[in-house]
This record gives sequence, C-alpha cells and structure tokens, in this order.
Amino acid sequence: MALDAPRPKLHPTLSVVVPTYRESANVLVLFERIKAVLEGLPWEMIVVDDDSPDGTSEIAFALASSDPRMRCLRRVNRSGLAGAVVEGWMSSSADLVAVIDGDLQHDETILPKMYWALAEGESNLAIGTRVADDRAAGLSPARQQLSDLGAWFFRRIAGAPVTDPMSGYFMIRREIVSRLAPRLSPDGFKILVDVILSAGGELKIIEAPYRFRKRVAGESKLTPLVGLDFLGLVAHHASGGLLPIRFVLFALIGVVGLAVHVVALTAFRHWVGPADFNSAQLAATLVAMASNFILNNEITYRPYRYRGLSMLGGFVGFALGCSVGVLANIDVASWLFKWNQTWWVAGIAGAILSVVWNYAVSTNLIWRPRLRR
Ligand code: GDD
Ligand code: MN
Repeated sequence: MALDAPRPKLHPTLSVVVPTYRESANVLVLFERIKAVLEGLPWEMIVVDDDSPDGTSEIAFALASSDPRMRCLRRVNRSGLAGAVVEGWMSSSADLVAVIDGDLQHDETILPKMYWALAEGESNLAIGTRVADDRAAGLSPARQQLSDLGAWFFRRIAGAPVTDPMSGYFMIRREIVSRLAPRLSPDGFKILVDVILSAGGELKIIEAPYRFRKRVAGESKLTPLVGLDFLGLVAHHASGGLLPIRFVLFALIGVVGLAVHVVALTAFRHWVGPADFNSAQLAATLVAMASNFILNNEITYRPYRYRGLSMLGGFVGFALGCSVGVLANIDVASWLFKWNQTWWVAGIAGAILSVVWNYAVSTNLIWRPRLRR
C-alpha cells in the first residue's frame, strides 16, 4: 500500500506518546526499537509517567538529557491511562500524534505504515489492529467474547468500520485531537472509542494489522471491570454529552444494587420470618449499600479507590450520605404523590432524586478528595 507510493519532500513531524506506569524494564527497549523503525523521519517519543515507584520517569529523563528525541512528562498525584495520553498529545507541536503501550505488546514495526498513510492524506486515523487469532494470546476466551461483542456493538452505533475499537495503539492528525481534547474523558482505557465517537464523521480510518505480543516484563493494569467504562462512554455520547460517564456507571451500579436488595430481602425474610419486616429490610439495605460501595470503588471511582482498612471509613461515609438520599427520596415521592396521585411518577421521581443526590455526595465528598497512593 502507501509504503511503495512516492513520498512527498516535506515530512510531517510525529510525536509518539507512551503512557507508562511501572514500565522501567521496557521504556529504553521501546525507544531503541522505535528509533530503528522510524529512522530518517522527524519523530519524538513522549513518555507520560504517573510517578511510577519503579523509577520509570528517571530512566526516561536520563535518556532525554542526551537524546532530544526522548521527552518525558512526570505527572504527580494523578492516574488514568486516557488522561495521560491526552496530556502527552497536548504537549506536542507535531503534525501527527500516536499512542503506543510502553510494555512492548504493540508491534512498533507498523508505525511507518501508519505514518505514510497519514502523511499522504490517505487517512487521518490509522489504527493498530490486533489480528483475530492472535488476540487470544492476551485474553481468556470469556474476555475475548465480551470484547468481540463490544466491538460489534461499537460498529453499530459509531457506523465506523473498526475491527478493534478497544485498541490502545493508533496514530491521528494532531489538529483533530487538539480540537476534541477538552471533551475527551481522562479516565479509563477506551481512548480510541472516545476519540471516534467524539470526532463523528470527519475520520478517514485505515487499519494496520499486527500480532499482539505477550507481556514479558511488568504487569497489566487492566481488569475485566474496565469493560464497563465502555458502556459509560457509549451512554455519554448517546446523550449528546449530557450524562457524565461516571454518572452512567453510578446509575448502572445502582440498578445492580436494586437487584441485590431484592435478593437479600427475600433471603432475610426467609430467615427472620415474615413478621419482622423492618429488620429484614434494614439488613437488605446494608447489603445493597455494601455492594454499591464495593462496585463503585472498583469501577466508577477506580482512580481514587479505597484499599484495605480505609475502605471501612469510606463505606461509613457512603452509607451516611446515601441515607440522606433515601430520606429525600421518600419525602419527595410522598409529596409528589399527594399532589399528583400517580404512584409510579412519584416513585421514579424520588428514585432519580436519590441517585443524583448519592452521586453528588460520592463524587464530591467520598471519593474525589482522595489521592491515588
Ligand atoms: N500514565 C499511565 N497512567 N499509564 C498507564 C496507566 C495509568 O494510570 N495504566 C496503565 N498505563 C500504561 C501501562 O504502563 C502500559 O504502557 C499501557 O498503559 C497499557 O497498560 P496495560 O496495563 O499493559 O494494558 P493491557 O495490555 O492490559 O491493555 C491493552 O489492551 C487493551 C484492550 O484490551 C492496552 O493496549 C489498552 O489500551 C487496551 O484498551
Ligand atoms: Mn499491556
């Protein structure tokens, strides 16, 4: 393809952003490999490190002092893959920007092909696409199926011919991400999904297939739970940006909590007997709150999550905050019911009010004031 086409004299510049967290064993190897494949082109590598305790940024800075093609941004008291990538891009003045994982799992030898596809205007977004059979190298069959389902769903809503929307490896014209940046979510792993849904129809996409490699050093930071931030992103875009991604996750978890509540209530009534409804209801409420707390801690507020014993304090705050939400819910619902008499309108309004209240409390008082480490 574009590789054999005649090359224009003026080569566009390229910044390759590498988000890192604990990749000290890999950054220099990656730099050497990229240097070898981009030989002769005007490129630079920008490592965006979230203050890894293993000294990743020191290694990158040391190299940067002798080779201007290496730059490093050390973010302190911050975390989040997508946000790191966006900040790296925002520090670039190049025509083209890319993102590649710092753990050597992405095949850097397709970078020139992506570069020329963009340089020659054939495309403005080149996606490194994991080849079907080889994706299994990194994923369990169950996760593979879930990921395939997500990809299928994504193609339907985005109307974009993308085989691997969950890819964390792509190159794009900087001017496009520069425009979209204020609207991109800083949390989660699904930055490509976010970019494509935000850009709408202006993208000319090509895919560059490659074989996903096994990680040799360090460990993956992705948990199966991050698949949920995909749903959050989709709902966020479907609502025209009105619903914050976190709120979508929070509300989804609230629905799960409702199911937990019903199951627990049934179980407790079975144990304590039907006469003592109040204690069964109280116990079920606590179980549902605990389940909501744990899920929100793991998913919605992952960058700020409580670990170990501190979870207890977090849970108490969460339970108190949510109790106020429950009271407000009952108050509003009964007031509305008196006034309107349609029980379900009153019920739903009360429920929405308490979700919004609980979300505001959780975001502003329970999780956000915390730093990651
Ligand atoms: N700065 C920063 N901050 N970097 C991070 C963070 C963070 O909070 N979390 C992870 N990284 C870096 C890692 O150091 C690595 O270079 C890269 O981001 C990818 O992280 P991994 O933990 O290795 O992710 P993975 O291999 O499990 O997931 C890959 O596949 C996913 C799709 O299945 C990545 O390519 C993802 O982007 C992709 O969505
Ligand atoms: Mn990886």
